[in-house]
Amino acid sequence: MSKLPRLTVIGTGYLGATHAICMAVMGYEVLGVDVDTTKIEKLGAGEVPFFEPGLPEMLAKALDSGRLRFTTSFAEAAEFGDVHFICVGTPQRKDSEAADMTYVDASVTALAQNLRRKALVVGKSTVPVGTAARLTELVRRTAPAGDQVELAWNPEFLREGFAVEDTMKPDRLVFGVGSEWAEQRLRSAFQPVLAQGVPVKVTDLQTAELVKVAANSFLATKISYINAMAEVCEATGADVTDLAEALAYDDRIGGKFLRPGLGFGGGCLPKDIRAFAHRAEELGVGQAVGFLREIDGINRRRRARTVDLVLELTSGEVTGKRVAALGAAFKPNSDDIRDAPALDVAATLHRMGAIVTVFDPAANDNARKAHPELQYGTSALDAAMDADVVVLLTEWTEFREIDPEMMGQVVTSRKIIDGRHALDPASWRAAGWEYRALGRP
Ligand code: UDX
Repeated sequence: MSKLPRLTVIGTGYLGATHAICMAVMGYEVLGVDVDTTKIEKLGAGEVPFFEPGLPEMLAKALDSGRLRFTTSFAEAAEFGDVHFICVGTPQRKDSEAADMTYVDASVTALAQNLRRKALVVGKSTVPVGTAARLTELVRRTAPAGDQVELAWNPEFLREGFAVEDTMKPDRLVFGVGSEWAEQRLRSAFQPVLAQGVPVKVTDLQTAELVKVAANSFLATKISYINAMAEVCEATGADVTDLAEALAYDDRIGGKFLRPGLGFGGGCLPKDIRAFAHRAEELGVGQAVGFLREIDGINRRRRARTVDLVLELTSGEVTGKRVAALGAAFKPNSDDIRDAPALDVAATLHRMGAIVTVFDPAANDNARKAHPELQYGTSALDAAMDADVVVLLTEWTEFREIDPEMMGQVVTSRKIIDGRHALDPASWRAAGWEYRALGRP
């Protein structure tokens, strides 16, 4: 192996921490950088500050190797690194649907101010198209090394819950570059990944930026498509689960991301489609992706319809009714509650006067911080104690495995809404439950 470049990873959230840890395990010397001292201290002490299966073991391995360190100093990062990955968040702005670029701009500026030699700055964050061109200007203006510093874009497609797998062996790598040198630097920064035969697509900067939002828009569209079919099923008595299964046999359509239910949430899909629509409007091509507003609308309606189902099962009056909300995270195997459909439904029911008890195997603590007004159970059975209706909102395996008879013994009435089509209706009905799911008779 030729000499590997030294890497820095700026921003140690879900994306950055995973990237830093996995790269160190794969043989690179890595410096993780964040402005959050608590995060840096935790990571340095071997503690992953969020829930991600397999990552704590990888962190231990990386720290043991001596190749991974953490710092809050941008000066140290600039001095250390040959390739700098920008992995900070781009949440939705509070005042609009656009992406908030504060963290990207601040971290790139802080790094650039200290860059005194040739280096490659690589953006991984999801950004509005055109950002890389703007940052190139910014870096060259700000860095003491001036135009010796180059910028590249390498969008990240990792899924929470599979972050390690997606980082070590992604489906593909996309290298948005402006020069042959930048491409070669990126190839050496991903040598062990490429050696496994992972395909790489080399593009210009703006195409690389677009790949990410185009991918997430497609995935969101697929989910909302099947959920739109669920709405039609509801009006006709058809069964959307059977419909989806029948569609999936056509391999032009495929069954992935065709699972109907409560819809998508999380730190990516919802804000990415909104930011994309916003950016397209700025560019004068808003009409081209106008359908994304519809996709968002279908997705929001799933939450409202789930609340409606609870109303139906409580004869139109939820005030004072006890609701057990199973799940808070935006998806299973995650403690992430950003734009989580589950928590949204729970909070809405509470606002309508229901007494809501939430249980999530990993996200209870995060949910409690965001929604202290809700009650929290210590297990699914505990949350279901004396419930008038149980609502399954996140499809954790342990919820799929609930024994309907056992849960039946603790509730006040055997009524369940399966917001994720995760349960076997026949066995719940056989145990005397009234079972309801969106888009199923
Ligand atoms: C997503 C993309 O998959 C990833 O490539 C990108 O980099 C970041 O955004 P993630 O947010 O971790 O990753 O979640 P993902 O597994 O894609 O699920 C997104 C949401 O869609 C979840 O709320 C999930 O419950 C929902 N979903 C997914 C469905 O409702 N139906 C499906 O069929 C699939």
